[in-house]
Amino acid sequence: MKITTRPSSAGPSLLGGSIELPVNPCLHGPARRVAPWTGEVGTTGSVAVVGAGKMGLPLAAHFASHGWDVTAVDVQESVVAAINEGRSHVTEEPGLAELVRDAHAAGRLRATLDGAAAAREADVVVLIVPVMLDDEQQPDYRYMDAAVASIAPGVHEGSLVIFETTLPVGDTRHRFTPRLEAASGLRADEAFFVAFSPERLYSGAALRNLATYPKLVGGVGAASTERAARFYASVLDAEVVAMSGAEAAEFSKLADTTYRDVNIALANEFARYADRIGVDVQEVIAAANSQPYSHIHQPGLGVGGHCIPVYPHFLLARAPEMELVALSRRVNDGQVGVAIRAIQKALGGLEGVPVLVLGVTYRHGVKELAYSRALPLIERLAFHGASVSAYDPLLSEDEIARTGATPYRWGEPSDARAIVTQTADPLWGELDFGRFPALEVLFDGRNSLRDVALPERVAYHGVGVPAARQAGRRAAVGAR
Ligand SMILES: NC(=O)c1ccc[n+]([C@@H]2O[C@H](COP(=O)([O-])OP(=O)(O)OC[C@H]3O[C@@H](n4cnc5c(N)ncnc54)[C@H](O)[C@@H]3O)[C@@H](O)[C@H]2O)c1
Repeated sequence: MKITTRPSSAGPSLLGGSIELPVNPCLHGPARRVAPWTGEVGTTGSVAVVGAGKMGLPLAAHFASHGWDVTAVDVQESVVAAINEGRSHVTEEPGLAELVRDAHAAGRLRATLDGAAAAREADVVVLIVPVMLDDEQQPDYRYMDAAVASIAPGVHEGSLVIFETTLPVGDTRHRFTPRLEAASGLRADEAFFVAFSPERLYSGAALRNLATYPKLVGGVGAASTERAARFYASVLDAEVVAMSGAEAAEFSKLADTTYRDVNIALANEFARYADRIGVDVQEVIAAANSQPYSHIHQPGLGVGGHCIPVYPHFLLARAPEMELVALSRRVNDGQVGVAIRAIQKALGGLEGVPVLVLGVTYRHGVKELAYSRALPLIERLAFHGASVSAYDPLLSEDEIARTGATPYRWGEPSDARAIVTQTADPLWGELDFGRFPALEVLFDGRNSLRDVALPERVAYHGVGVPAARQAGRRAAVGAR
């Protein structure tokens, strides 16, 4: 079943479409505030957003900007205090500070530590606290279990509870709905509603994505799906797609993220082969992708962040037979070893060798260390005897030191014999190689420096990008 409740300005459906999505204009007229909210078109109600972090706060502020009365719930007092002062504690989201300030000033956004009270007063509860992995690569539910326990006593007749956090397939129905029913004494899909709707926003573009990405919704029954679709239709400018159920919606998020992990693993294998035969993998991928059915991603040092490396394990936790998924995780995690072996080979070993790692967050521009490939990179370089320093424009010296590396000060002279770039920060293009008189190797972990002119003594290693390219570049620079 696919019900499009809100057509997109880009066409009848964006499912399967391009990543260059237009921002849909807001077509919502002034809405009538009703209590209780029953899903009637043209009306708004009250919503509690549980987990006011990098994703939850943009959601809360956006809902408020569309006429909803919003209470953000968080366990961190500093987060609650900031929101109640009209401040955004999330700094890397363009436009968010203004949205939070305006929503607070308009009296439509406040925050609390009390999940039960917020749920009691809300028509809709959106849960967006993290579910991560434990040491055995199994889903770690501690935050979500606590969040569900905190709101459950406030669930009442007519409540709509939506899980936006990525979950293993079946959790909405089998893990969480029974807890909500037990605490409220009410039957789901009859007296109250429960749905899953994956949050697919991209950190740093969350507010823009809210007006572009189709919103997928699947309930534990038809009534829940319908109520949740009506909620999003009232509050989002993007297409809303009602799916056949919570499981299909849960699976869709795991399918999307796992597809990317597997695709990147394939690109990494292509890069290893390209390295072996001296062919430029980026040239190959660009050429292959000129066939409309080919969508090969880019190779690199591996995959970080708390989404793409995590969600394949959510699939594997329930479907261990997915061999390709498990293998792809291993291939991507193995890219750190590829970098280390290349440097070892170029320098004849790492014992006592000063190595500088540039980029410690999982991707440039996002202050997030979760699953960053810099962490095993630093650890393994040190294990092989290297003296590791690191720099990231988003991290303080203390934060760098906590990774086990010595903080490097941007622009200062360094005795590094090797540099490894772990992010594609445009800042690396401004590197002054004159500050690195001992530098012999540049390992370009994201292939972002392939066109940078290097001194003659520095060997270039990209991921599937032959050093010959750089030799040509050096010759061209030298000839000028
Ligand atoms: N960050 C991303 O790029 C991204 C992208 C798409 C989807 N998501 C989804 O969003 C989820 C949350 O990610 P995030 O980046 O916003 O996390 P985050 O760590 O930035 O924020 C989580 C917030 O939840 C709060 N919290 C923890 N336990 C709580 C509880 N019991 N009750 C209330 N609040 C609680 C924390 O204090 C924190 O403020 C992820 O697990 C993922 O499923 C994230």
